[in-house]
Amino acid sequence: MGKSLLFFASLPFISIIVLLNQNNSFENPSLIHQTIVKSKVADEPKCSDCHGDMLENKTKHPPAAESCEACHQVNIKEHTEAGAKGLQLSDKLPDLCFTCHDGVKTVVDSAKFLHLALKTEKTCVACHSPHSSAEDKLLRKEEKKLCLSCHNKDKTAKGEKSVNINSLLAKSKVIHPPVEGGCLVCHRPHASDKDYLLIKSFPRGFYASAEKETFALCWECHDSELLKAEKTTTATNFRNGDKNLHFVHVNGEKSRSCVMCHNVHASNNLHLIEDKIAYGQWNLPLKYKAKENGGSCFPGCHAMKEYIR
Ligand code: HEC
Ligand code: HEC
Ligand code: HEC
Ligand code: HEC
Ligand code: HEC
Ligand code: HEC
Ligand code: HEC
Ligand code: HEC
Repeated sequence: MGKSLLFFASLPFISIIVLLNQNNSFENPSLIHQTIVKSKVADEPKCSDCHGDMLENKTKHPPAAESCEACHQVNIKEHTEAGAKGLQLSDKLPDLCFTCHDGVKTVVDSAKFLHLALKTEKTCVACHSPHSSAEDKLLRKEEKKLCLSCHNKDKTAKGEKSVNINSLLAKSKVIHPPVEGGCLVCHRPHASDKDYLLIKSFPRGFYASAEKETFALCWECHDSELLKAEKTTTATNFRNGDKNLHFVHVNGEKSRSCVMCHNVHASNNLHLIEDKIAYGQWNLPLKYKAKENGGSCFPGCHAMKEYIR
């Protein structure tokens, strides 16, 4: 108490000293800190006196708007006297968030596939602001930018090769329209029962059973007849006359998946056709050419083939 009063009394002098000794004061950050802190302190300092900016954004997190103490255990006296150190959260993350968001906990605990972003050091607050945000759902950035801010690397956290979605989108001429709309059109942000955190099934790898259900995600927007009709003149343009070449390629127990030929996010070729095709261990150039009434490809696995509608 005595010490703090003394500090208040000497505040004007300290300020002057700080101003006069700018160089010196840089070497004494705690003095600056105390000066800043003290100069704002009222009799009963409130968190918002000094941290008003925490709540300045449009969407406010209700507990933060109500009381900072819901999450921070800050001894205000110590804090303003000794200088702020340590976040002093009342619980560790993500448990702190789960105390009120048990619904998210249930999803995360019970889902088959977990987004590893939740396992990074920042976990929930890597994507959400705990205080306020200009975006919906307290997101730190606009949704798509947020996803791309991490998915901009060629290697995973574990060092495995990964798809750098950010550079793929930046360098591709053709973007799959739903990807323009954002990643959550197809992916869940926290966890999912479906592989790749998808909202509906899509198989991992290049081969999968040709059941309609295997590719359920695609039928959210495309007609499954493009796969199921053996003969057609309407269901798909990938046909030779009325022979459905989707049916030919995607058929049987261990048939080719869509990603053998298409990139689901973006590509440099028309119809989202990949540059390369996986063949055993190798990636062979597909050399796809779109034509007015059909197209052709010349992959390493068979001779040049052409289809004409
Ligand atoms: C007199 C001004 C003042 C008041 C009042 C104040 N703080 Fe601070 N606080 C600061 C300053 C200065 C810092 C250090 C710079 C920064 O991180 O903004 C800080 C830092 C913090 C930090 C971050 C510490 C870190 O390790 O990064 C937290 C959390 C915090 N304050 C919470 C609170 C809470 C909760 C209250 C209310 C109980 C509160 N503060 C009241 C001035 C104040
Ligand atoms: C819902 C829980 C929660 C509430 C309520 C909350 N905070 Fe925080 N706060 C956090 C978490 C979690 C972090 C760590 C953020 C990080 O690591 O990026 C944090 C970080 C901070 C920091 C460090 C700087 C920063 O921007 O990350 C300050 C300062 C702070 N909080 C002040 C406050 C103040 C003031 C209030 C009341 C207006 C408040 N907090 C309410 C959870 C909360
Ligand atoms: C003290 C209780 C409490 C704690 C702790 C808490 N929240 Fe919240 N949170 C709420 C309430 C209340 C709402 C508003 C009602 C709702 O949407 O659930 C909310 C809303 C949200 C929303 C927006 C939901 C929407 O539908 O718009 C997000 C995101 C969120 N919180 C994330 C977090 C994160 C991340 C943490 C941990 C840092 C956290 N919360 C900790 C109580 C809490
Ligand atoms: C990879 C980024 C990311 C991480 C990490 C993350 N979230 Fe979210 N969260 C989102 C996005 C994006 C949405 C919006 C979903 C939507 O609009 O459909 C969301 C929505 C929410 C919501 C509101 C809707 C709902 O699902 O209930 C809450 C609450 C929430 N998150 C809490 C959390 C908590 C708690 C954690 C940590 C365990 C967490 N989030 C981690 C991205 C993330
Ligand atoms: C904080 C960083 C971070 C953010 C933000 C982030 N992710 Fe991730 N994501 C990861 C990590 C880490 C992995 C695990 C693989 C890796 O290391 O790259 C991952 C994996 C994935 C996977 C692959 C899952 C699999 O099984 O192969 C998908 C899909 C994904 N994220 C989608 C998203 C979407 C959609 C968003 C935006 C809502 C997003 N991510 C935001 C860090 C992040
Ligand atoms: C039209 C639906 C759709 C949209 C929209 C979409 N994705 Fe995907 N994503 C998929 C499918 C299907 C897979 C699995 C097949 C694959 O990897 O090619 C996938 C896989 C991924 C993977 C894992 C890649 C790997 O091979 O490990 C990441 C990371 C990813 N998506 C991130 C994103 C991000 C970030 C966005 C937004 C910019 C996004 N996705 C938008 C459908 C979509
Ligand atoms: C949310 C809706 C949506 C989902 C889900 C979706 N697509 Fe698309 N896709 C579109 C739209 C819209 C277009 C552009 C119009 C069109 O060609 O039908 C398109 C175009 C395409 C094209 C290029 C067509 C052309 O001739 O240029 C291919 C290939 C494609 N999608 C494959 C897929 C695959 C594979 C899946 C499943 C992983 C999928 N799509 C899931 C909406 C979707
Ligand atoms: C063997 C390569 C190959 C495979 C495997 C493949 N496609 Fe295609 N797909 C094509 C070609 C080539 C076109 C372009 C047809 C044209 O317009 O000339 C195409 C076109 C499309 C189109 C545009 C509409 C249409 O049918 O003409 C959609 C949508 C599509 N594919 C979805 C899928 C889905 C979903 C799968 C997996 C179930 C898949 N494709 C598997 C080669 C393939």
